[in-house]
Amino acid sequence: MKLITVVVHGVTGKMGREVVSAICREPGIKLVGAVDVDVSRDYLVLPDGSGKVPLSSALEGMLTALKPDVMIDFSVAKAALPAIQIALKKKVYVVSGTTGLTNTDLAKIDKLAKANGVGAIVASNFALSAVVMMHLAGIAARYFDYAEIIELHHNTKADAPSGTAISTAKAMAQAKGKPFNKLPVEKGRTLKSRGEQVRGIPIHSVRLPGLLAHQEVLLGAMGQTLSIRHDTVGRDCYMPGVMLSVKAIVGLKGLTVGLGPILGLEG
Ligand SMILES: NC(=O)c1ccc[n+]([C@@H]2O[C@H](COP(=O)([O-])OP(=O)(O)OC[C@H]3O[C@@H](n4cnc5c(N)ncnc54)[C@H](O)[C@@H]3O)[C@@H](O)[C@H]2O)c1
Repeated sequence: MKLITVVVHGVTGKMGREVVSAICREPGIKLVGAVDVDVSRDYLVLPDGSGKVPLSSALEGMLTALKPDVMIDFSVAKAALPAIQIALKKKVYVVSGTTGLTNTDLAKIDKLAKANGVGAIVASNFALSAVVMMHLAGIAARYFDYAEIIELHHNTKADAPSGTAISTAKAMAQAKGKPFNKLPVEKGRTLKSRGEQVRGIPIHSVRLPGLLAHQEVLLGAMGQTLSIRHDTVGRDCYMPGVMLSVKAIVGLKGLTVGLGPILGLEG
């Protein structure tokens, strides 16, 4: 089987470094180059001791010289779209996990990918456990009128509720076909202590050192509850999803949003 060659964009970052290690472990995928705005030399030593690859801040030159099959991008929102556009114009497939791309950005990526006959996957969460948890929550939502979400993250996470929790609540209401039941409010009180309401689902956010990323969806009905929980304990949790996406994208055309379609979890 032909090796899939990859350039990593945002390679100096936390996710970029994790991706380099994952590629070194992955049969069938080979790192051929690395790009970051923040580089102090022109090569990257591979963590498994297998050698080094070119490192540069000039993405376009790197893609022209190396002609990789795929670019993996974990950078920042303002850098991701231009980088993805450069890659697609060079007929390089794209796997991007950078968060903050807008719907307008996604529409541009889809159009450009189709025009160049290549594919791009943009996923805000590559952790398989999170993706499957959201899918199961969507199935369960049809059978319950009451649900709550507790999402727990490390104390340096700035946003709350998490994007995954908000997406989960929206997907559950969509699967159900209507918002969940409104909470009763005691006269003269507010719902402040009952979490942020998204489509009738209260989301409770916990931020503590010692946590990474965790979420529990609780559903209740007469005399019973159902809990669906996922826990991630290391940044490597994203890597099986990223490696799967690299192998799946070669051969797809246009934009795929999220890991669901790759895992056969649509609908
Ligand atoms: N999809 C997922 O499952 C998932 C999981 C974790 C993080 N993320 C996202 O991945 C992205 C990266 O996260 P991180 O923790 O590695 O952040 P980080 O800050 O550690 O790394 C970002 C890297 O991008 C580089 N960069 C910035 N501007 C650039 C430019 N113009 N050109 C090239 N490189 C540039 C930085 O130098 C840095 O090395 C963030 O958007 C984060 O939210 C997604």
